[in-house]
Amino acid sequence: MTGKKIGIEDLRSRKWFMNPDNPEMTALYLERYLNYGLTRAELQSGKPIIGIAQTGSDLSPCNRHHLELTKRVRDGIIASGGTCIEVPVHPIQETGKRPTAMLDRNLAYLSLVETLFGYPLDGVVLNIGCDKTTPALLMAAATVNIPAIALSVGPMLNGYFRGQRTGSGTIVWKAREMLAAGEIDDDGFMELVASSAPSVGYCNTMGTATTMNSLAEALGMQLPGAAAIPAPYRERGQISYETGRRIVDMVWEDLRPSQIMTRKAFENAIVINSAIGGSTNAPIHLNGIARHLGVPLDNDDWQKVGHDVPLLVNLQPAGEYLGEDYQHAGGVPAVVGELLSAGLLPHPEAVTANGRTMGENCTGRRSEDTRVIRSVSDPLVAQAGFINLTGNLFDSAIMKTSVIGPAFRQQYLSNPDDPNAFEGRAVVFDGPEDFHHRIDDPAEDIDQDCVLFMRGAGPKGYPGGAEVVNMRPPSYLLKKGVEALPCVGDGRQSGTSGSPSILNASPEAAAGGGLALLKNGDRVRIDLNKCTADMLVPLDELAERARAFEAAGGYDAPESQSPWQQYFREKVGRFDQGMILEDADKYQDISRKWL
Ligand code: FES
Ligand code: MG
Repeated sequence: MTGKKIGIEDLRSRKWFMNPDNPEMTALYLERYLNYGLTRAELQSGKPIIGIAQTGSDLSPCNRHHLELTKRVRDGIIASGGTCIEVPVHPIQETGKRPTAMLDRNLAYLSLVETLFGYPLDGVVLNIGCDKTTPALLMAAATVNIPAIALSVGPMLNGYFRGQRTGSGTIVWKAREMLAAGEIDDDGFMELVASSAPSVGYCNTMGTATTMNSLAEALGMQLPGAAAIPAPYRERGQISYETGRRIVDMVWEDLRPSQIMTRKAFENAIVINSAIGGSTNAPIHLNGIARHLGVPLDNDDWQKVGHDVPLLVNLQPAGEYLGEDYQHAGGVPAVVGELLSAGLLPHPEAVTANGRTMGENCTGRRSEDTRVIRSVSDPLVAQAGFINLTGNLFDSAIMKTSVIGPAFRQQYLSNPDDPNAFEGRAVVFDGPEDFHHRIDDPAEDIDQDCVLFMRGAGPKGYPGGAEVVNMRPPSYLLKKGVEALPCVGDGRQSGTSGSPSILNASPEAAAGGGLALLKNGDRVRIDLNKCTADMLVPLDELAERARAFEAAGGYDAPESQSPWQQYFREKVGRFDQGMILEDADKYQDISRKWL
């Protein structure tokens, strides 16, 4: 504990439960919270009331273990002199929600803001885990700005099939190839895929879940070491208890998200994202969280701060290992310790949830298994971050250049005069259904001169944005041994996929971005050195296309299927700007606005 900054009279919950100016309302607020067994002493004697933002449920298997862990969180809160109120959060399950869980990130955000703002809570434990639950909860904590600490549910145990590690998501890409090659049948496919999910917890690969849970720690919002502990390990219950204990002190210290998630913390997180081989979804989420705090952060920052950082963590899909191995090698503190020892962490002075700095927490921590977490002097890849491309196709799109394989490099990036650029013929797909319909049609005449484009897959287009930009070549090219074609799109890519695609193009076609004007057969040029992507179409022709696009009423996106899809599309912004509900970021630091 770093010292008490506020007193009992400053607690938000006093406005409800101990308001001398309004005893009648106090009685009305109080009586219903007594009716299940809370005592007046618990609510009126000045104990901070801590919300536990519960994302675990039967609908959310990745986070379901939080239902169990919450018992230990409660024990910790009570041991530290707090009272607990468990709060349901709109469920989000990455693998279960149609059309995409990304659509619900902002819905869970919106409802949790209202909950944290409008109820008698002094602090909150954020039960994070499955991909979108982490950013949704951090965004809400950012907007309301009450003391908050995150708690990962932890990854699943390692999956194995016939002695080989099978990782979440990543195994699906492999199983598809095996099924197509006739090596397994449909039952074999299901058995192989299910082997990657052997216990409670979230994806055991370095997909978006492990990425975002690691980044919640990197931002300083979790206790040190809290991200990587597998869900069933005893240490997971123990860190849950410590997290509960700590949040009560954070309330007294008045340590808020805005003091932890500063610009410095985001720069640390960008560096750590490169070192862990984090998901291409991370810039969307971190840029979004930053906007809700009023911290400037964009995709240029990701390139400037993160591109040159080496890859240290050898987890699938970029490497070999899985979540348990990450934990045994030391998790996030070991990664940060390795970066610190090489002087690569930009801001060791950034404050974290335990009241100490990142440098204090992690200095001296080193990898305990250098097969899984490498040192900076022996990295897996020298430059593991993203580049930010721009041009007449879009203002901003990101690419992880470190996943470009030798065959791709040889085919596209080996012109001695221009080694990092290539030109090609655009093959344009309007959404994933169009892709599946046309990709194997010989009439498309796709060859290695082609660049595959996916549009209509962005926040407004799909809605929520589909993870569909990494497109396979047509089967007639696969049979000839062509494993990958360049892919560009205004959608996303699963964090468990390692394809070298140009992603998250903003603005998207459905918002009138340049991609909307691209036509099948156009020549395009992509330069990874200059970070540009352009259609080679004369300006007057582009102006004419823009006029025709406007006259036709814009991009022809599919109808909304639910009220939320409609509201989401009306309000949502661009991927590069965090895909938040536009205008929502004008509400900042609102926890005491009702005073
Ligand atoms: Fe929930 Fe991957 S599907 S964490
Ligand atoms: Mg995903």
